Amino acid sequence: MKAIRGAVTVAADTPEEIRGAVDSLLSEIRKRNKINVEDIVCIMLSSTGDITSLYPAKAARECGFVCPLFSSLEPPIKGSLPLCIRAMVLAETDIAVPVYLRGAAILRRDLTERLVIALDGPAGSGKSTAARNLARELDILYLDTGAMYRACALACREAGVAVSDGDAVCALIGKTDLSVEYSGGRQVTMLGDRDVSEEIRSPGMSQLASEVSALACVRSAMVAMQRRIASEMSCVLDGRDIGTNVLPDARYKFFVTASDEVRARRRLEEDRAKGYDVRYEDVLRDIRERDRRDSERAIAPLKCAEDAVVVDTSDMSPEEVVQFIRNKIQEKI
Ligand code: DC
Repeated sequence: MKAIRGAVTVAADTPEEIRGAVDSLLSEIRKRNKINVEDIVCIMLSSTGDITSLYPAKAARECGFVCPLFSSLEPPIKGSLPLCIRAMVLAETDIAVPVYLRGAAILRRDLTERLVIALDGPAGSGKSTAARNLARELDILYLDTGAMYRACALACREAGVAVSDGDAVCALIGKTDLSVEYSGGRQVTMLGDRDVSEEIRSPGMSQLASEVSALACVRSAMVAMQRRIASEMSCVLDGRDIGTNVLPDARYKFFVTASDEVRARRRLEEDRAKGYDVRYEDVLRDIRERDRRDSERAIAPLKCAEDAVVVDTSDMSPEEVVQFIRNKIQEKI
């Protein structure tokens, strides 16, 4: 079950206006969330004090909503949007797309403008976890761009192409069918019709991905794909060069970082949880080596964009990181 939120304004305090607004709000919530009337468990509505001619819950009943309904009156808050009705619909559904109509669209500009959020940073900084959780909370897509370079690295390894042989890698990537799909809210990285999402996560693949990602032809193919996805929908992208190169005009940019030791420890725990037999010293060395290569390469190196907000996650929990980023976005919206 999910809670779906929405709001709408009315042009005047008349029963017809209120009925029409409630009907369009609830119908739009049903449509955008693909739910039937029977899937709705209950609807809670609230209205500003200037709405007096019809209870929004009564309007909903008159419009055919048969579930339990509840109306409440909002306190008079200075500067709040007048003639506004808010809804919270509890329904049996997997998604929860909020709906803000008419004047109420201003309450959630993050929903009405296409949101593109760039999260760059070194390995183990916590950017992927933050990006995934942020995208889930905002109900937008998460694009893990590192997974794309990892898939290129896997394609090279499987074809027996050395990543040091730039021409051979370019020829191979040119004919490789790499794509990203989404299933159950999770990114699935595909090579042809094979799901390689797990395979690309091995420690060896991290180094290989870093090497392959320094090649111009690989970068231009991946960046074109990333730009196309980001031009079509709201999304959070994580990577090394999103704010500096892929989407330099992104409105929301963050550079997520942490001390080398903290990053190595996090990576160690992740690798061990996946069953890899790794030592702290080796992970720390690999992380430093990868940082050096990613930061020193000639094309689109890892670096903080001038207009990015730096988030040092060394002493922050994953929840605190997301909260911090959300607050910064909210301040700017
Ligand atoms: O984020 P990750 O560890 O999955 O990334 C693997 C490698 O891919 C990383 O070492 C550098 C490269 N990469 C890149 O060059 N640009 C990106 N936008 C994302 C990753």
